[in-house]
Amino acid sequence: MKKALDGQVKLEADASSSYLAMGSWCEITGYEGASSYFYAQSNEERDHMIKIIHYINEMGASATIPAQKAPTDTYKSLEDVIKAALKNEQQVTKAIHKLVDIAQKAKDHSTYAFLEWFVNEQVHEETKFEIILQKFNLIGRDKLAINEIDKFLATQATATPPA
Ligand code: FEO
Repeated sequence: MKKALDGQVKLEADASSSYLAMGSWCEITGYEGASSYFYAQSNEERDHMIKIIHYINEMGASATIPAQKAPTDTYKSLEDVIKAALKNEQQVTKAIHKLVDIAQKAKDHSTYAFLEWFVNEQVHEETKFEIILQKFNLIGRDKLAINEIDKFLATQATATPPA
């Protein structure tokens, strides 16, 4: 179980670093709202990572802090960034579900209960990116439309995360 949780620490760290790179790409490209959004998202992923590190340590094990590869930092468009983010969240969801299976098989009730928050969080995260992706179909992909989507992302960057 410890090894599997360490793997999740790495996934959350990778997600944090990937969102940081997306935020930076958006900043350079002139998408201010999207940039704030992804910087905030990067912080959220770091919080997820620390949550798991605390849990491993509290269980009397010792969390392994992972080495990290450099994330992708070039994208074709804002839509491309959001698509990559959704794909990333779908992979994280799969990994969380796998962890739940492992905890269940091992009859590890405390880890099973701990993971419940992450199961719900992943539903929320995937929905967030699906809603943003829908905006490209609803509003469009021309400059004005992208500007609207960027403004929407600015409002979401400061939105209160779920409890
Ligand atoms: Fe912590 Fe967005 O997965």
